[in-house]
Amino acid sequence: MATGGRTMRFLMTGGAGYVGSACLRWLLKQGHEAYAFDDLSEGNAAAVPPDRLIQGSIHDRGAIEAALRDQRIDSVMHFAAVASVPDSIADPDTYWQVNLMGTKNVLDAMRACGVRTLLFSSTAATYSFDNPMPLTEASKLEPQVPYGTTKLAAERLIADYARAYDMGYTFLRYFNASGADPDGEFGEDRRSESHLIPLVLYAATGRRDEIKIFGGDWETRDGTCVRDYVHTDDLAQAHQLAAESLEPGMGRVFNVGNGQGTTVLEVVRGCEEVVGRPIPHQIVEPRPGDPGILIASPARLREELGWVPRFENIRDIVATAWEWSNRYPHGYESKHGD
Ligand code: UFG
Repeated sequence: MATGGRTMRFLMTGGAGYVGSACLRWLLKQGHEAYAFDDLSEGNAAAVPPDRLIQGSIHDRGAIEAALRDQRIDSVMHFAAVASVPDSIADPDTYWQVNLMGTKNVLDAMRACGVRTLLFSSTAATYSFDNPMPLTEASKLEPQVPYGTTKLAAERLIADYARAYDMGYTFLRYFNASGADPDGEFGEDRRSESHLIPLVLYAATGRRDEIKIFGGDWETRDGTCVRDYVHTDDLAQAHQLAAESLEPGMGRVFNVGNGQGTTVLEVVRGCEEVVGRPIPHQIVEPRPGDPGILIASPARLREELGWVPRFENIRDIVATAWEWSNRYPHGYESKHGD
């Protein structure tokens, strides 16, 4: 039985991905029923229990409807997306196709099956770069890259559907999802890695020669970019709280971040402390599309949903990522060899 209420049955598109699978495992631990619906283009089958994986694409509306009906789903969590800022600049076609049209398919399948509540993985990339920090849900929205534009367009689409067809939604605008399962059994493992913490740990183990730091002249305390790193278990708790309180007719938005800014150099130092040795790094040119500073105000999430993050400092977050990377240096591929 789920804590504090009834057991719910969730379909999680992209549920075998990094954030989706962390949420799926969390919901199962809380006593809910959850199924990943994932085409495994980015996700890993080994990230979810075998009986919880439905292999299918969000471009296949019939397959989504079958999953909704077969599993008697109460509510959908829509994680499936393409989510790289540089790739979105190079290939907006794919980003609009997956992030907007994919979302429309999910909504149309939900309508057809009478499923009326949706949690949507949105992003800090929907906000303007001009806002004062920290960002609240009322900060100006003005995405600067196609990734953010497509996510904001999907938010608008969901809101239109919800108004017209009596659905309810919650947008969770993630800041920097990070860390791994605290037991070290599951973690970040992408086909092509571009995120800071896994790359710093690759440099720590020699899988890469060094970590390149994008820009050293930002207006921050040490010149490197500031981000708000939030552990995937804390993100998962936000999903649980949001889903358990979501009803048709609602339209809610929450930022999900710790409210603390950490510079890239502080992340590198935190990794050095956890790993116990220096990690080679070099400052290079800034990366196109990067904002200098992104920090969330999680006040609404704390006040309205009672969210209490467990991982509030970068060292603790990095320690979980290091445990995973130590146990499974080649990610889920090494796990198959267990
Ligand atoms: N960084 C480096 N070197 C690297 C990789 C990253 O210096 O090799 C820096 C980036 O410039 C940034 C910070 O480390 O300042 C974090 O970068 P990530 O690539 O890990 O994450 P982003 O902040 O770029 O991306 C996150 C989410 C995206 C979202 C974006 C919004 O992962 O989904 O925030 O801007 F779109």
